[in-house]
Amino acid sequence: MALSAAQTFVSLGAGAIAARGRFVVALSGGSTPRDLYQALCKPELRRQLDWNRVEFFWGDERTVPPEHHESNFRMAHDALLEPLEVAPAHIHRIEAERADVDAAADAYALKVADCFRISLLDPPPQFDLVLLGLGTDGHVASLFPGTRALGVTDRWVAANEVPQLSTTRITMTFPLINRARTVVFLVAGDEKAAALADAIDGRHDRARLPSQRVRPASGHLDWFVDRAAASELGAT
Ligand code: 6PG
Repeated sequence: MALSAAQTFVSLGAGAIAARGRFVVALSGGSTPRDLYQALCKPELRRQLDWNRVEFFWGDERTVPPEHHESNFRMAHDALLEPLEVAPAHIHRIEAERADVDAAADAYALKVADCFRISLLDPPPQFDLVLLGLGTDGHVASLFPGTRALGVTDRWVAANEVPQLSTTRITMTFPLINRARTVVFLVAGDEKAAALADAIDGRHDRARLPSQRVRPASGHLDWFVDRAAASELGAT
């Protein structure tokens, strides 16, 4: 799964760079993408992309410092950015450790606007690729069931209180996610089987299942799943 997702990552990247001179990607947090990130560092894939033309963002971040073991930045830094020697200028971290989480969300939205050379008043920009994981409760990025950011339509990034985890997260919102040219889900493990079946086969319940709100306007939504996660597909 990780290898085929990595091959898709590289081919989307080559296409974006050929068409627009760069590849703007939002990395997923969590643990599933680690194998994908490590696959990208292997010579046969690494050499297929000019990594200096890739702009790295994140779909969400925990409110911890970048060196914290729970940091999505740290996971990608250790598994991908450091091994590829990506220049800091191409790494656009969410500064979620800031005391003022709303200011952190706004600062990150500004980083996105600057990268696309637009204003925050413009419609959301088009990432070439947004990578997402799937929570066992159907959450994507840090858009958890029943949380306020699910309904945010006037901002690209929001600070989102997550009572289920007694924490606040910083997350891209659906308007930004759904503008992406391609959204790729990475889902692995039998603990995700029910959430995946809900997301793909389940009846529509957008309040309970944030994953069902991922509908890129471009229509390019790819699922990379392993056999264990897919074990309940088509069972309904
Ligand atoms: C995060 C992620 C989150 C993650 C899912 C799946 O910050 O945790 O953005 O949406 O993708 O929770 O996480 P795992 O890959 O660890 O199962």
